Amino acid sequence: MEVVEVFHMNEGNGDTSYANNSVGQKNVILRTKPTTEEAITDLYNSLCPETISIADLGCSSGPNTFLVVFDIIRAVEKLRKITGTHSPEYVVHLSDLPSNDFNSIFRSLPRYVEDFKKEMGDGFGDCFFAGVGGSFYGRLFPSKTLHFVHSSNSLHWLSQIPKGLEENKGNIRIATSSPPSVIKAYYEQFERDFLTFLKARSEELVTGGRMVLYFSGRKSEIHNPIHDVLNIWTLLAKCLKDLVTKGLVEEEKLNSFNIPIYAASLKEVKMVVEKEGSFSINVLEGFTYDFSESVKDGKAITNSVRALVESLVVNHFGRGVIDQVFNKYEEMIGECMAEFVKEEFINIVSLTKI
Ligand SMILES: C[S@@+](CC[C@H](N)C(=O)[O-])C[C@H]1O[C@@H](n2cnc3c(N)ncnc32)[C@H](O)[C@@H]1O
Repeated sequence: MEVVEVFHMNEGNGDTSYANNSVGQKNVILRTKPTTEEAITDLYNSLCPETISIADLGCSSGPNTFLVVFDIIRAVEKLRKITGTHSPEYVVHLSDLPSNDFNSIFRSLPRYVEDFKKEMGDGFGDCFFAGVGGSFYGRLFPSKTLHFVHSSNSLHWLSQIPKGLEENKGNIRIATSSPPSVIKAYYEQFERDFLTFLKARSEELVTGGRMVLYFSGRKSEIHNPIHDVLNIWTLLAKCLKDLVTKGLVEEEKLNSFNIPIYAASLKEVKMVVEKEGSFSINVLEGFTYDFSESVKDGKAITNSVRALVESLVVNHFGRGVIDQVFNKYEEMIGECMAEFVKEEFINIVSLTKI
C-alpha cells in the first residue's frame, strides 16, 4: 500500500475530525514556538528578503494550519517594525498529501486572513496563499525558491509501510516482541525517507534558508520499553485483535497491518542530516510531552487517534469495522486509563541550508 495515496487526517469539522481533535499537536506547536521564532528571526536578519516564501509541510486542516503560519509572519512583522523597514510580501505554501482536506483550509482562509490583517494593522505587506498537494518525500517547489520550511507533527510518518515486516505478527509497529529484522526494516525506511526529504528541501531552499521540523521521536537508543506499555498504539492493536477473536477479521489480515510510523532518536536524526550534508544544525533537542494535559478523557483520546489513523484502518480492513474498532477503543481506555502511558517524546530540529 502506498501511504501517500490513501493517508489523510479526518476531514471537515465533525466530532472525529482532525480540526476538532488536534489540541495535543497544537500544544506541541506552542512548546516549540521559541525555536521557530529564533529561526525566522535569524533568517530575516541575515537575508532580509523583499518577498518571503514560507512552506508548511504536512499542514493538515483546522486551526493548527493557520496557527503556525501566522506565528511565523507575526515574528517577521515584529522585527521589521523594530527596525523600521517596510513589510515584505509573504508567499505561504500550505502543503500536504493530495487527499488532505484543502477545501476546508481554503474555505476558512478569508475569515482567518481578515482577522489577521486587522491584528497586524497598517503597513502590513500582501500575503499570498497557495495549496500544494504532494508528498514531502519528493520535490514540491522550484529550485531555490523557499526561505523558510516548517513541519510540525508529521515527519514520523513514513512514505510507505517498510518491506520485510512478516515477522511482526501481533504488533502493528515496533514492539518488544518485534525481531531485529523488523526494527532494521523500519529504521532503513526512515533513513531513506528522511534523506529524500532533506535532499528535496536542499534543492528548494535558498542558501541560508531555514527549516524547523518537529516530530515524534524516542528518548533512548533502544526501542523499548515505552512502545510496549499500554499506549495509543498498543491499545489499537488490542482492539484489532478483538475483531479477530469475534471472527470479524481474518488473523492473516491483522498480521499484515502495520502503521508506517518511526520514532527516530536524536542520534539517528543527526546521522541522517550529516549524511545528506546540505544543512548545518542549529538546534537538535527533544522534550517529553504529556498529552493528558490536552486530552483529558477516554473519548477525547479515542477521537484523536481516530482522526489520525481512520484512513489507514479503513483502507486495510474496510469501512464496515471502523465504528466497532473505536467503540472498543473507548470502552477499553475507560478501563485502563490509570496504566495508560500518555507521554510522547518530541524531536526538535532547526537547520540552515549551507
Ligand atoms: C498529525 S498531522 C500534523 C498537522 C499539523 N502540521 C499539526 O501540527 O497539527 C500530520 C500531517 O502530515 C501529513 N503527511 C504525512 N505524510 C506525508 C507526506 N509524505 N507528505 C506530505 N504530508 C504528509 C498528513 O497528511 C497529516 O496532515
